[in-house]
Order: sequence, then structure tokens, then C-alpha cells
Amino acid sequence: MGEIVLSGIRATGKLHLGNFLGAVQNFVRFQNSGEHRCFYFVADQHTLTEPYDPEDLRQYLLEMVKDYLALGLDPERSTLYVQSSVPEITELTLYLGMLQPVGELLNIPTYKELVRKHPDNVNHGLLTYPVLMAADILGPKATLVPVGSDQVPNVELARDLAKRFNNRFGHTFVVPEMMRQMVKVPGLDGGKMGKSDADNAIEIKMPIPEIRQRYRTKGITDKERTTMDKPGDPYNRCMSVYPVHELVTPGETDTREIAKACMAAEIGCVACKERLVDSLAAMLEPFQARRVELAGKDDYVREVLHEGGKAARVIIAETVAEVRDKMGIVLY
Ligand code: TRP
Ligand code: SF4
Repeated sequence: MGEIVLSGIRATGKLHLGNFLGAVQNFVRFQNSGEHRCFYFVADQHTLTEPYDPEDLRQYLLEMVKDYLALGLDPERSTLYVQSSVPEITELTLYLGMLQPVGELLNIPTYKELVRKHPDNVNHGLLTYPVLMAADILGPKATLVPVGSDQVPNVELARDLAKRFNNRFGHTFVVPEMMRQMVKVPGLDGGKMGKSDADNAIEIKMPIPEIRQRYRTKGITDKERTTMDKPGDPYNRCMSVYPVHELVTPGETDTREIAKACMAAEIGCVACKERLVDSLAAMLEPFQARRVELAGKDDYVREVLHEGGKAARVIIAETVAEVRDKMGIVLY
């Protein structure tokens, strides 16, 4: 049987290669397999928990959705929507909150991290972030949730809430499985792309010549390989070039051709970086062409989100009606 796949995307800024290879590619695979019902949404309300600018949020959201559409999410095959378009999610957050001990929320690692990051902005929304996330997941009764490893505790909490609700009020929710997206894409400085700073990231909209320039000047190769006739260690010491080859250069993962050439000192780092950017170009160019087509199509994107919102709302409203009923809430 097919899964009900669901994942949320925070509306913060620009998509980079790490987002694409780590997450979006999976979303598209689930969608294109034709076996699953897929829900992908922009978690705009989650974005409000951290300091933000309303105008940026409005703008980023449409731009991000254009990126996702250009990368292959298809409104005919997936339900694409924005969290706030479905007010029943907020309502479900309130109901689920009644089953959620505060102590557990205080111990969620992402919460603790944000308290450290913005000690003067520890708002209620930040604390209940995982409950809103549980409502996102349980609203469409998702069975499979692909997420990055930082989101694992949040999905655990959603699973616990599903069980708690079922125990207290009778079977209502499927306990969702989680799928960890393990692909890690190093940024130019060798750290996680986009995490340490924006400058280490390769934006997927970046013109290829700029990507080339960035790898040439900032890509970190095996530092102990000071001359071309010294063999390199692609697996352990090449920080930001070889690991990306493994993800984007066709055949590399199977044949290890570049790794072997590096270890035999048959390829230099300059040529190796050029090849990497050629592979990236082949992968990104079709996306960039579609993205240019979508650039001026705000109305189309709004329409996609409007239709997706309506479709999601029908399904989520059904769950929320069931939840109200079981909890003894009557709409008069
Ligand atoms: N919190 C997630 C993140 O930062 C985004 C998100 C919101 C999400 N709701 C979700 C992911 C529901 C999976 C399921 O990446
Ligand atoms: Fe890295 Fe390529 Fe240089 Fe080897 S040749 S160290 S894989 S950049």
C-alpha cells in the first residue's frame, strides 16, 4: 500500500544544494513513484517563532515555492500548500497541546538551542513549535515523514502525541514513521552547507560561472596535497570537493574513477574542481531554465497554493472534526 508522505519546509531564504540533494530530491522521488499520496507545505507559521521581517516572509514564500516547482514538485501529483491556509491545523495544535506535558517541550534540543541563540526572544510559539509540527503531521494522517536529522525529536514527539491521543480517545491516528534524510552536503568551507554561514553555500539559482568561481577560490581540497604529483586522500581529507562529486557526478559512486585518479596523483585539484562544476551545471541548468520561466509568474504560484490549500483543507478538516467529536467539543 502507498504511504501518505508529508513534509514541511520553513520559509526562510534561499534554497541551496544541500536542501536540494538532502531533501527536495526525495520529495520528488516519492511524488514521481506514483504510489504515494504526497503533502508538501510551507511552514510559514513556524517561521514566526524566530525574529523575522513580514515583508521578507511574503516575498520569500513565493520565491521558495517557485524553486520547489522548478525542482520538480508538481501540483498535479502532490498537494502543495501553505500551513496558514489551513486554519484547522492551528485548531488541532490547541487540542494536541492539551495532551502535551510542558516538561518534555522544555527538553527538546532545538528549543534549547534557540533559547541559547535568542535568550531575549523565548516566546510561547517557540516552546510549542513541536506541537504545531505534530498537528501538521497528524492533520492529513501522514504515515511517512521524511526529515533531516535535526527534526528527529520533533517527529518523535508527534508520534508520542498520536499514541497518547489514541489511548485516551480511541484509535484515530496512524503513528507516523519517520524517514531520516541522511545525505549531508558539505559547504565550501567543509562544514554543513548553509549552517555555519550563507557564504559557504551554493545556491541553486546561482549562475554557473559564479559557482565555478566559488569552487575555484574557496573549495577546500586535500590540504596536504601541496603539489599535483602528490597523491591525495579524497575520502578523508578532501573537505568540500570530493564529497560533492559522489553526489552529483554520474557514475562516481560506483566506479570511484575520480577518487582513484586522485589517489594515483593522476588528476589535479584544479581539473577536479572544474569537473565537479561541470557535473553541477548539468544538474542545475534544466532547473535554472524552469526557474527563469517561473520568475514572473506570481499569479500562477498563488493559484497553485490556493488550490493546494483547498485540497489540504478538506482532508485536514475531516481529521479535526473527528478530533473535536472525540474530545467532546461541539460546534454550535
Ligand atoms: N520544522 C521543520 C524544519 O525546520 C519544518 C516542518 C514544519 C516540518 N512542520 C513539519 C517537517 C512537519 C516535517 C513535518 O525543517
Ligand atoms: Fe579533492 Fe579532487 Fe583534489 Fe583529490 S583531486 S584532493 S578529490 S579536489
